[in-house]
Amino acid sequence: MEKRYTIILAAGKGTRMKSKLYKVLHPVAGKPMVEHIIERVIETKPSEIVTVVGHGAEKVKEQLGDRTEYVVQEEQLGTGHAVMQAAEFLKGKKGTTLVISGDTPLLTSQTIDHLFDYHQGKKASATILTAHADDPTSYGRIIRDHVGIVEKIVEQKDATPEEIRIQEINTGTYCFDNEALFDALEKIGTNNAQGEYYLTDIIEILKADGKTVAAYQTEDFEESIGVNDRLALAEANRIMRRRINQMHMVNGVSFIDPATTYIDAGVEIGSDTIIEAGVQIQGKTVIGSDVVIGAHSKIVDSIVEDNVEIKQSVIEEAIVRKNADVGPYAHLRPQAEIGEKAHIGNFVEIKKAKIGENTKVGHLTYVGDAVLGEDINVGCGVVFVNYDGKNKHQTVIGDHVFIGSSTNLVAPLMIEKNSVVAAGSTITEDVKEGDLAIGRARQVNKSGYASHLPF
Ligand code: UD1
Ligand code: MG
Repeated sequence: MEKRYTIILAAGKGTRMKSKLYKVLHPVAGKPMVEHIIERVIETKPSEIVTVVGHGAEKVKEQLGDRTEYVVQEEQLGTGHAVMQAAEFLKGKKGTTLVISGDTPLLTSQTIDHLFDYHQGKKASATILTAHADDPTSYGRIIRDHVGIVEKIVEQKDATPEEIRIQEINTGTYCFDNEALFDALEKIGTNNAQGEYYLTDIIEILKADGKTVAAYQTEDFEESIGVNDRLALAEANRIMRRRINQMHMVNGVSFIDPATTYIDAGVEIGSDTIIEAGVQIQGKTVIGSDVVIGAHSKIVDSIVEDNVEIKQSVIEEAIVRKNADVGPYAHLRPQAEIGEKAHIGNFVEIKKAKIGENTKVGHLTYVGDAVLGEDINVGCGVVFVNYDGKNKHQTVIGDHVFIGSSTNLVAPLMIEKNSVVAAGSTITEDVKEGDLAIGRARQVNKSGYASHLPF
């Protein structure tokens, strides 16, 4: 088979984004746009990928790592100039080169494969991926002659009023005969409204040389959205989210209101799980089967095993084991691990703590830097006092312990199994197995004294 190469254009600053973050690093469904591009490109199995970097080069390289080679475009003189930079890797090689922009995150690898097939079928020197846009504003327009043969691409800023009305747009993705591409690039100039080296000019140059130029129109304009500003970014996010939600629904996940459910690309969800309205699931989260994620919960980089119920809670970098339940209004912070069948109730915050099987932390409690065994009952309003102002200290609690309400457990502390801590205690010393610990001032009742008070 013919060799396939890919050039990803990612050197632009993205002026129209008005952002400190370089354009191709803006996230769509939780992933930088250029990450979506490289993942799709890799699916088409090219033998070489060259990414053109410039603005934010280090950050883009950090994102893409060793999945691609890099060339630096020192000055951003246009898309044609950007492609020229890849000459050091690709010039003179036989094969087909896909050129793709870092700002078209919705393109699928199927469409790219279709483009390759069409290009090969037409034996063309260049094939443009085009689409029909209801509103073609800001895209390059495809100019065809009276029998429909592609003549050139005209940028919005260079178009005549007649050309501006054309609705077939350039998606910024092309297949080129690699040798013809680099030969033609030597001939492009900057005689246009933006004074840039336009890659799009190559079409006319190839035609003038008697080469075949083709255009493959995808049916789905949405796939080809180029993100140049925040409006298009929001639109791209909306489309990507809808695509992700549909994929999960096809896989057996129920959504109460998909339009208000925000799931990042790469999240995994098992079948028969129900996701209520307003839920956000982000990062590398994995959700099991038969889980219920209650309305307005937010789950980031976490694992939620089968049969768990989460009610309106925030969960970050945490693990919730099978059959446990969490919330409403619980906050699981990094390194919280909730054991099987454990119950975490309302207004409970858990950080860097392991909660054993069947243990209940029901109400208004902070657990930090702790290891709790099985079948423990933590009462209402318990504070694990883990921080002395300088260092964090750990509390360890054995199985079957009962911690009474409104207790302070001042770490470091070891509370052995089968013991009981009385309500209202401030515990500063370890508690031995089977003991009852009471750490509070004795109550004094002053007979008849109430009427002597000033209020
Ligand atoms: C480009 C096309 C336009 C097409 C649209 C599709 C040109 C001249 N125009 O316009 O026909 O309809 O894409 O989305 O090609 N880049 C560089 N170096 C540069 C300039 C750009 O690497 O010097 C990169 C950008 O980072 C971006 C991509 O090339 O990823 C496209 O550049 P952009 O400025 O977004 O071009 P558009 O105006 O969208
Ligand atoms: Mg663009």
